[in-house]
Amino acid sequence: MTGITVTPLASSLGAEVSGIDLRQSLDHDILAELQEAWGRHLVLRFRGQALTDPELLAFSRVFGDLDPPGPNPYGKPFLSEFPEINVISNVKVDGVPIGNLGDGEAVWHCDMTYVERPPRAALLHALEVPPGGGDTYWSNMYLVYETLPDRVKALIDGRKAIHDATYNSAGMMRKGMKEVTDPREAPGAHHPLVIVHPDTGRPALFLGRRRNSYVLGMDIDESNTLLDALWEHATKSEFTFRQEWRQHDLILWDNRCTLHRRDAFDPAATRIMHRTQIKGTALQAFDATTAGLALES
Ligand code: SIN
Repeated sequence: MTGITVTPLASSLGAEVSGIDLRQSLDHDILAELQEAWGRHLVLRFRGQALTDPELLAFSRVFGDLDPPGPNPYGKPFLSEFPEINVISNVKVDGVPIGNLGDGEAVWHCDMTYVERPPRAALLHALEVPPGGGDTYWSNMYLVYETLPDRVKALIDGRKAIHDATYNSAGMMRKGMKEVTDPREAPGAHHPLVIVHPDTGRPALFLGRRRNSYVLGMDIDESNTLLDALWEHATKSEFTFRQEWRQHDLILWDNRCTLHRRDAFDPAATRIMHRTQIKGTALQAFDATTAGLALES
């Protein structure tokens, strides 16, 4: 008996893990239970975890090697002592942002899919949260794929899309990037639209982010129509979990089979989150035919 309790938070994904102190070193049985719960629920919430940055880094390493944050709009790490930690915050000190993404909405995305090996996981630790707003949502991309009509599964089978590197989810241009006028020329990795999850072997729709996305081999209007329909389906509330943050919540999510977004919040309020991510692998295409799915086109 590990003493851990895992309680689902929504029908689609997300579970709360209680009876655990993430500042302690975790034995083999507890780690195995966490891995099992993570694979089943995709997003795990741990409440009341007042971790220092070194403790956040130590717990993050349980899930693999740390993946440093991508380039932010300001061109240097927010925490020089811990460059593996990204700061997500609206706070400015002497007019200089201490973190990324500000106080506006962060649109639906998964993290750093513009690289060939996107992170497998991310952890977000709430240090200070506003009294309202700034909620974060995740969507279950296994379910999203499973519930697509067969004709859409046939249409996207074997297709790849461009994952643009130009903007972050708050619409800010990353350092060193320039405006994209034609999504077909957007800088960024090309990934299968349907991936095989490297750990579970299950198919998941893999969209990255909508802005400047393009389905290779289609004309631009056809690609936009398809992507709009896929995004509309992927972000339906029935596939999502909503997180209302409390101070010292820590959330771990799987970046390969979920999307996430964040609500805006009052600019006068303070929100400070510390974030890590874990290195992933190249993503392979799911082949519906080999998997035995008879799709009508
Ligand atoms: C993110 O997109 O990683 C940030 C989510 C949040 O601020 O809640």
